[in-house]
Amino acid sequence: MAFNVVGNLMLSKDLLEPQSVEGHEFFDAMSKVTELAGKPNVADFLPYLKWMDPMGIKRNADRHMGRAMKIVAKFVTERVYQKKHSRSEKANKDFLDVLLEYEGDGKEGPDKISERNVTIITLEMFFAGSESTSSTLEWAMVELLRSPDSMRKVKEEINSIIGIYRKVEEKNMDDLPYLQAVVKETLRLHPVVPFLLPRNAIEDSSFMGYQIPKNTQVFVNVWAIGRDLDSWDDPLSFKPERFLGKNIEYKGQHFELIPFGSGRRMCVGFPLAQRVIHLALATLIQSFDWEVRSSLSPGITDMTEKMGISVRKLVPLKAIPTKRDSVQVTI
Ligand code: HEM
Repeated sequence: MAFNVVGNLMLSKDLLEPQSVEGHEFFDAMSKVTELAGKPNVADFLPYLKWMDPMGIKRNADRHMGRAMKIVAKFVTERVYQKKHSRSEKANKDFLDVLLEYEGDGKEGPDKISERNVTIITLEMFFAGSESTSSTLEWAMVELLRSPDSMRKVKEEINSIIGIYRKVEEKNMDDLPYLQAVVKETLRLHPVVPFLLPRNAIEDSSFMGYQIPKNTQVFVNVWAIGRDLDSWDDPLSFKPERFLGKNIEYKGQHFELIPFGSGRRMCVGFPLAQRVIHLALATLIQSFDWEVRSSLSPGITDMTEKMGISVRKLVPLKAIPTKRDSVQVTI
């Protein structure tokens, strides 16, 4: 779902529809790169071995990245061709149209983005926007299934505000504070980019008594901040209630909760991710009752994390949806 949302936004394509061969291949290549990116690599600890690529991780990642690039480059070339040969202006432009039509900010004359860079930006959106969203949804569902009281509260909230005869929509989100608290609590405990993007010290500096030399790579440990006793009461427990009536947002100003980062490098997909996560989670909860059978329970009890481009559950959640009668579901 998350991958397909990005596909529609960027390219106006349903990449995962059964007929789309390229879409499936792209998804497969992307998943392989994502997995390889999280593998511990000896060469990161012993840089003099880098040239050898002793575990073959770079070689494999390059191969799958090449497959993904080739497919996206083809989509871009096709669009350039269509734009050249179409006489009418498109009514609904997607992100790719915007990138291709961009002429610069006008300060120093035209400054178009090269076709290669358009391909790279497009690819980056898929890498940054797919797994981050799906992992967050998985963590939210698993936390709710482990915490029946929270699941009951979020269901009751949706039932009382939306009812059971109409589907929850994006415009309802402001009226669902408990759902919003569930998402915040999920991102506090499971920030899917746990160290944010690496920063680089541009000059020698000192911070809280530490000397940080110029060019040091700096990681911000958001995962640890979310579990810090000085910032949170009972930090390891899933308690959405801690956010009710509190003005703690994850827009980069409240440093105890920065799952989307902060400052100029903050997640560019934040407005989209926020909409998609709330809507998808509310829809899953409203449309189905969820059952976890004992044979599938490791996904619920085992919360081990697996590092990739984002932090996923090592044992994927498997829960069985039972359709609720009143709400018509279209997926
Ligand atoms: C739950 C969902 C998401 C989370 C938790 C998340 C989190 C993050 C974080 C922590 C960063 C680094 C920010 C920093 O270092 O300060 C980031 C960067 C980024 N995000 Fe997201 N993200 C999500 C969804 C998305 C979506 C849906 C898109 C686009 C479709 C997206 C696109 C990007 C891009 C392009 C960057 C890199 C920006 C740069 O290079 O400066 N993200 N995201």
